[in-house]
Amino acid sequence: MKVYALIPAAGSGRRMGSETKKQFLLLGGRPLFLHCLEVFAHHPEVTGIVLVVSPGDEERAARLVAEYGLDKKVEKIIPGGAERQDSVRLGLAALPQDTDFVLIHDAARPFLTPDLIERTLAAARRTGAAVAAVPVKDTIKVAGPNRLVERTLKRSTLWAIGTPQTFAYGLILEAHRRAHEDRFIGTDDAVLVERLGRPVELVPASDTNIKITTPTDLLLAECLFGRGAGDSKEAGPAGEKKRKEEGSCMMRVGTGFDVHAFKPGRRLVLGGVEIPYPRGLGGHSDADVLLHAIADALLGAAGERDIGHHFPDQDPAWAGVSSLIILEKTAAIIRRHGFSIANIDSLVIAQEPKIAPYVEKMRANIAQALQIPLERVAVKATSTERLGFTGRGEGIAAQAVCLLQGVSTR
Ligand code: CTP
Ligand code: MG
Repeated sequence: MKVYALIPAAGSGRRMGSETKKQFLLLGGRPLFLHCLEVFAHHPEVTGIVLVVSPGDEERAARLVAEYGLDKKVEKIIPGGAERQDSVRLGLAALPQDTDFVLIHDAARPFLTPDLIERTLAAARRTGAAVAAVPVKDTIKVAGPNRLVERTLKRSTLWAIGTPQTFAYGLILEAHRRAHEDRFIGTDDAVLVERLGRPVELVPASDTNIKITTPTDLLLAECLFGRGAGDSKEAGPAGEKKRKEEGSCMMRVGTGFDVHAFKPGRRLVLGGVEIPYPRGLGGHSDADVLLHAIADALLGAAGERDIGHHFPDQDPAWAGVSSLIILEKTAAIIRRHGFSIANIDSLVIAQEPKIAPYVEKMRANIAQALQIPLERVAVKATSTERLGFTGRGEGIAAQAVCLLQGVSTR
């Protein structure tokens, strides 16, 4: 099954009115358009991504995509057109011909969740077309000349439409072709399918799935990103259920600690770096005590069980394996919960050997395994002044703290 994400990011951001184009503005320290790309890039059902940018922005976008390690999934970055509909049409033409389903998603909607990808995809498999939608909260009136109200619509039947809009590839291709032929311009992609008399299913989405359009939206998005807005305050199981349904944006902190004893005849591996030293650490995997502390911090922050539960000692699959693989798999678990990693701070506690010469390589390994920028990873080292088991050189300890952020449905 070939599933592609098509991301229109070729707008001019007129309503944002900023000097830097909207899609490149920072949200939570990361360019806006990369937020949804990250969710798509790490989703196992998504085969590849085509990104549509303003003509001339291709290189800048490609550089950022590579910097955030998303270039494996982003197959093409192509120039868009004058209207959003033109950008989408050009994007559709750039997809592989044997694409089965395409998720069209605005670059300006950063709070996409894996769950919403899955639910629009499941609905599109049933009906051919499915769009993310939120029940309208305000009363909607239709105005005539002189801003005089003509009528008031029945709110209970109204939905505000967002993205992803997910379609069988052949269907949306045909819908865009027909619209182009008829010079019809719609305000979303689904309306082009509706014109063909084909069904479009609404998929309820969280009202945190906002589109960043004005400076106020950006402010709001920063709040959602960092402050747990959207959390229902209701106590008890009902409140818990509600929080789960609406999804809440939040920060989560996690802590990890690990110790391994020296054992003769073993290699010493710390932060994925093999360090020349007469003794190594004993353990089931490569006994990389630093990576284990970091993985445990990440799992803890996501409310998951610990590293021993996910990667059991008894499981032969993990015997002698590089802990960088454990870290990669941990990152995948974190992303499934809709979190991204804000930063990691870590500490190796060892009397010997000297860690400093290897720190930069360790940071690079960790950043790569987690697919985050280097600046978000710190590795420090300390001795314990010859005190305690680390001071006597019996083993090495490590501790880590991490911060996760994002929209979680847990
Ligand atoms: N878009 C696009 N090509 C266009 C116009 C819009 O790919 N010709 C993209 C935008 O980059 C955005 C999404 O479509 O990710 C939704 O559009 P919108 O929020 O309206 O963004 P802009 O068009 O950039 O903003 P404005 O309408 O305020 O100029
Ligand atoms: Mg626009």
